[in-house]
Amino acid sequence: MALADDGVLASLHATDPRHAPPAVLDVLTDPANRALLRYVAEDPFGAHVFPGDVPDYAPSDFLTDLDRQLAGTAPIHLWSYIPTCAYRCRFCQYPVVLVRGDGEAAAGKAARWVDWNVREAELWLREVPRLASAPIGEFNVFGGTPSLLPPDAIRRLIRFYRENFRFGPDTAIRFEGDPSTLTAEKLELLAELGCRKLSCGVQSFDDRVLELSGRRHTARMCLDFIRNAQRVGFDRISVDLMYGLLDQSVDSVRRDLDLVVENKVTAVVCTKLHLRSYADTRTGVSGDQPAPWQLPAYRARLAGAGYHWPSLGEQYQMREVLIDGLTAAGYREQPTMYFALDSVGPEVWKSIMVDQDRQDAEVAIGLGGSSSCRDSEAITEVDWRAYTAAVEAGRVPLGSATRFSPAAQESRAIKMALTTLQPLRDDLHRQRFPGRSLFDEPWRRRFRSLAERGLAVADESTGRIQLTPAGRVLVEAVINTEF
Ligand SMILES: C[S@@+](CC[C@H](N)C(=O)[O-])C[C@H]1O[C@@H](n2cnc3c(N)ncnc32)[C@H](O)[C@@H]1O
Ligand code: SF4
Repeated sequence: MALADDGVLASLHATDPRHAPPAVLDVLTDPANRALLRYVAEDPFGAHVFPGDVPDYAPSDFLTDLDRQLAGTAPIHLWSYIPTCAYRCRFCQYPVVLVRGDGEAAAGKAARWVDWNVREAELWLREVPRLASAPIGEFNVFGGTPSLLPPDAIRRLIRFYRENFRFGPDTAIRFEGDPSTLTAEKLELLAELGCRKLSCGVQSFDDRVLELSGRRHTARMCLDFIRNAQRVGFDRISVDLMYGLLDQSVDSVRRDLDLVVENKVTAVVCTKLHLRSYADTRTGVSGDQPAPWQLPAYRARLAGAGYHWPSLGEQYQMREVLIDGLTAAGYREQPTMYFALDSVGPEVWKSIMVDQDRQDAEVAIGLGGSSSCRDSEAITEVDWRAYTAAVEAGRVPLGSATRFSPAAQESRAIKMALTTLQPLRDDLHRQRFPGRSLFDEPWRRRFRSLAERGLAVADESTGRIQLTPAGRVLVEAVINTEF
């Protein structure tokens, strides 16, 4: 066993004695699962982007592939990414652009990102002719923190997309923000513009944890956001929670859980603190500079000053507290990390993207957007200077693209389907890949190995493959190390 593995195992076994040890402890201790343990020791976002196996694909070829797939497509998922933030969180490696202050200069700077986004969208519409007529299943304004845009800019952005893309009566509009900018007035405006779904980055309801993370809001503001949004009457109010944050304890996460349940939030996204660069694996989109917490010397200095980084064991205890508590309160995890009240159902945009019978195209417009179709995928520039130069020059500002070989198309479809946490169906796989089965090699061998290690159950007689509870918890590690 390598020395580094000793340290990771020690971190896994360092649990909080006031709470039960996590159920995945035995699975992760098993030497047969060493690759999974190494993956979770320091993991990137693992289920946001599903990169191809043929690198250096021409972005213009991606646009052609996308256009071909859009002929007669089912509803697709459309994103508009606004990278502005009022502060930079110490854990965040997304491509963000800081806009400080409330004055006119700050409002003008934020509004310029709407100008660029609209101009970029016009370039996509020119280069991908079928995009204008593709039905939009969900339109998602995300970031960054789009809720800090001035009201006129928000109005302009949503109006532009509504008028230039094929929105129908069933198109859902989702808007993202943080508790300091999703104010009562902004919420009223969003409702007036037809937005029915909100996602708000709360991270924690513990003021000390928020402050150490560099967040510029309090737990009180998080609760005010939830109550204001409920008063205005949005269909879905989703909050992001993180676990594994500096000085966060299992008890603190339990209080977070109690608050979301008590306040009847319709959906919760629970994410482990990810510190490995998403750019290393291309499974997420990172900006051009690391988050402070990604720097080992910075982390060590905080530990030296007496702050506590939750151990791996504590992180899985936190996750278990969340899973058990949310399940008991009527929430269901689908896909991984996304818990929704049964009455509101799973996230539409995620199901368009990953459900085994859908996996339709998605188009993300804006700095660091990630777009994909069945043949290839592409990421938009993450460096804002290169991004704005491309848009000003009239080019769709894609930074890189990859293509999927036929084998990679199949493995990508399986990986996406696994992240839904729903049983994989061989009949759907055969329809999509004629002549291929989930019980053919190399999948047979892989699923058998997962079954032997207690991570999945494969039943050839019913043609179904289902993750076990441990497999569900470790699904990102499974797809990124074994498929
Ligand atoms: C781009 S932010 C959007 C919301 C808004 N900007 C905010 O932070 O309140 C989306 C979510 O990603 C999550 N996130 C960001 N960096 C992360 C990291 N390093 N590890 C895990 N989750 C992270 C946070 O939960 C955050 O709410
Ligand atoms: S977590 Fe949200 S608010 Fe914080 S820097 Fe990232 S995008 Fe901005």
